Amino acid sequence: MSLSRGNSFPITNFPAARNRPRGSCGCVQLATTVCIVANVLYILVLFVCSTQSHFPLRQVHSQCSSFLSIQIQSYIKYSYRFLSSKFDSYGHRSMPFDSSVFHSPEEAFRLDYEQMEEEFKVFVYPDGDPETFFHTPRKLTGKYASEAYFFKNIRESRFLTHDPRRAHLFFLPISCHKMRGRGLTNERMIDEVEKYVKYLKFKYPYWNRTLGADHFFVTCHDIGVKATKGVPYLMKNSIRVVCSSSYDDDDYIPHKDVTLPQVQLPFFHPPGGNDFKNRNTLAFWAGRTDSRLKDDLIAMWDNDTELDIQNNRVDFRATGHVVFMEKLYKSKFCLCPHGPIGSSRIADSIHFGCVPVIMSNYYDLPFNDILDWRKFSVILKETDVYLLKDILRSISGKHFMRLNQKLVKIQKHFKWNTPPVRLDAFHMVMYELWLRRHLIRY
Ligand SMILES: *[C@@H]1O[C@H](CO)[C@@H](O)[C@H](O)[C@H]1NC(C)=O
Ligand SMILES: *[C@@H]1O[C@H](CO)[C@@H](O)[C@H](O)[C@H]1NC(C)=O
Repeated sequence: MSLSRGNSFPITNFPAARNRPRGSCGCVQLATTVCIVANVLYILVLFVCSTQSHFPLRQVHSQCSSFLSIQIQSYIKYSYRFLSSKFDSYGHRSMPFDSSVFHSPEEAFRLDYEQMEEEFKVFVYPDGDPETFFHTPRKLTGKYASEAYFFKNIRESRFLTHDPRRAHLFFLPISCHKMRGRGLTNERMIDEVEKYVKYLKFKYPYWNRTLGADHFFVTCHDIGVKATKGVPYLMKNSIRVVCSSSYDDDDYIPHKDVTLPQVQLPFFHPPGGNDFKNRNTLAFWAGRTDSRLKDDLIAMWDNDTELDIQNNRVDFRATGHVVFMEKLYKSKFCLCPHGPIGSSRIADSIHFGCVPVIMSNYYDLPFNDILDWRKFSVILKETDVYLLKDILRSISGKHFMRLNQKLVKIQKHFKWNTPPVRLDAFHMVMYELWLRRHLIRY
C-alpha cells in the first residue's frame, strides 16, 4: 500500500463520524485520537528506518510499507467496525460508497474499484476508417445513446492504452449503429463484421492467443447484435457488451457478456426521487403491446382504477406529451414488462425516481454483478402479471420509501457524461469488464 493511500484515511474521510451530533458519545474523539496516534507512530517508524543507513534502500522501503499496511489495515477494520456498530443510522447515509446497494461489502468494492482506476488498460484497434463505421459514434441521442457514449468515453478515459502489451482487454471499435445509419442490410452488416475480425486476426497476434476471449465489442443496436453472429468465435468467446440481454432467445451468456443499459437520451426533465408524497398512482405503464406478457397486462388491468395501464404508444420526450412524463413523477411503481424490442423503460423509471417493476423471466439486469437490484426495484416473474395489484399493494409504505431512496442513490450509475465521471454508467461498464479480465493465454 502506498504512502499516499495511507494519508487518505484520516477521520475526515468518514463524514458519518464527522457529522455525528456532538455530546452524545465520545466515540469521535476516540477515533480521532487513534488516527493521530497511528500517524505519529508511522512518522516515527519512517524516521527510524531512514536513519538506519546500513539497511539497503529496498529493505527500508519494504519494512516501512509492511508496517504501514498493518497500521492501515487495522485502522480500516477498526473504523469500519466502529462506524457500522455505533453509527448505523448515520453510516448508511454518508458513506462515500453505499454498501447497501452493492453486493459486496463497501470497502471491498471501493478498493477493487480504485485498483481498476489505477491499472485497467484497454487497447483499441486503430484499424478501420472513422468515416465509415469505426471508432466514432453516430450520435449521442436516441435509444442507442449508450453505444455512442461508450465509443466517445473510452477515448476520453484513463483506460485507453496504445501499447497492446499492457492491455487487459482489446476493443473492436465497430459501430453497428453507424452501419445501420448507412443503410446496410443485415447481410452486409454480418459481412463487414466478419471482414474486420478476419483482418485483425491476420494482422495482429492478439486474437489468436485466446481465440478472442480477451476481446470485446459494444453495441446497443438489437439488429447490430445479430450482425456479430456471422463470426462464431466473436459470439462464443468474446465479451459482448449489448443492450438486449435476455438469455432465453438471444444467445446472451450471463457472466461472460455485459449488459449495457438501454436509455433514450436526452431527458428533457430533471431527475425525480425522494418525493414519495407526490406519488399517488400505484403503478403506471403505457405502450404498444409486442409480446404475450404485454397482451396479458392490458387484458388484466386496462380499466383498473389503481393501476394506470394504457395501451397506446407514447413518446414522452416529444412536446405535447408532458402528461406522460408527469405520470412517471406521480407513480410509485413503473412497470417494465419484457418484450422482444429493446426498451428504455428501466432507465426512464430510474431517472424519474419511479421504482421499476421488472417483469421478465430471463433477463440480465444492467450492472447486476455490482448492484443489488432488490434494494431499489421489484423483480417479478412474467406469470406474476395476474397478481400484480396484490403484490404491489402488499409493499408497505416504509418499504416503498426505502426502495425510492436507494433508487435515487443509484441514479448516478446510470448517467452518461462526456467526459465520463467517476462511478457513472461508463465506469460501471468498465468495472463489469474489469471483472472479466482474468484470462488464460496460449
Ligand atoms: C491466426 O490464426 C489463423 C488461423 O485460424 C491464421 O491464419 C493467422 O495467420 C493467425 N494469425 C497470426 C497473426 O498468426
Ligand atoms: C375497458 O373499457 C373499455 C371501454 O369502456 C372496454 O371496451 C374494454 O373491454 C374494457 N377492458 C377490460 C379489460 O375490461
